[in-house]
Amino acid sequence: MYDHINQVCSLIRARSALVPRVGMILGSGLAALADELDEAVVFPYAELPGFHEPKVPGHRGELALGLLAGQPVAVLRGRFHFYEGYGMPEVTFPVRVLRALGCETLLVTNAAGGLHATWQVGDIMLITDHIFMPGLAGHTPLLGPNDDRLGPRFPGMVGAYQSEWVPLAHAAAAGLGFTLREGVYLMVAGPSFESGAELRAFRLWGADAVGMSTAPEVVVARHAGMRVLGFSLITNLALPDGPPANHAEVLDAGEAAKPRFAALIREVLRRGAFVEGF
Ligand code: HPA
Repeated sequence: MYDHINQVCSLIRARSALVPRVGMILGSGLAALADELDEAVVFPYAELPGFHEPKVPGHRGELALGLLAGQPVAVLRGRFHFYEGYGMPEVTFPVRVLRALGCETLLVTNAAGGLHATWQVGDIMLITDHIFMPGLAGHTPLLGPNDDRLGPRFPGMVGAYQSEWVPLAHAAAAGLGFTLREGVYLMVAGPSFESGAELRAFRLWGADAVGMSTAPEVVVARHAGMRVLGFSLITNLALPDGPPANHAEVLDAGEAAKPRFAALIREVLRRGAFVEGF
């Protein structure tokens, strides 16, 4: 894995000297931001060994280096999901590459179902913590021998999401005229949407939104010593007595919320540029 990461990094560095500070994963329908990079150098996943072509409609596979809101960033446009059949090490390999390229911060985005009846489609939730269901069931990217060059054997996950940046995120949203939700993201393996009983259980466990990604990437980012900031776009309400979720509404909500979501990320980056260690 270590050599493989460095091999991909060399490929990228041969075409771009930019050292990214923030690595970003743009999920369902949120990828348009990648088009806004200045001085962009784009690598289709097909050119990067270990990266795969996304199979989900609404995802396009590219790694782009460039400047966003003046910050050097590396953007993963499209991610690999566990439910597509990839192993957790494959799902998280791109995060290893971001780290090796120099990223110290991982900014993750995803689409999620909101678990509160009072929430609305289009809300954006700052992720304050996660419940990694597949990880708890043994599907974790850190399974097997640990390579100490990549991170410690037993990384802690308390405080995985950078709490110092919560005010920054709220201020960025307020500056744009809206209020951020805040809460715990629960990852399921999918691809089936949750049963009513599962949704009730998730509420009892303290979850606020449910989705099918992100937690493995965050575990690897923390293992690799990165700081993490995460946002969920609430694309549907996932309520035990509500209508079942469907993929079309997830994509539609992503589409509708794009401008606001993009504005938030840009504003977070702009403000982050002045923050030590961002
Ligand atoms: N459940 C799981 N994943 C999701 C959902 C949901 O309701 N919405 C978007 N991704």
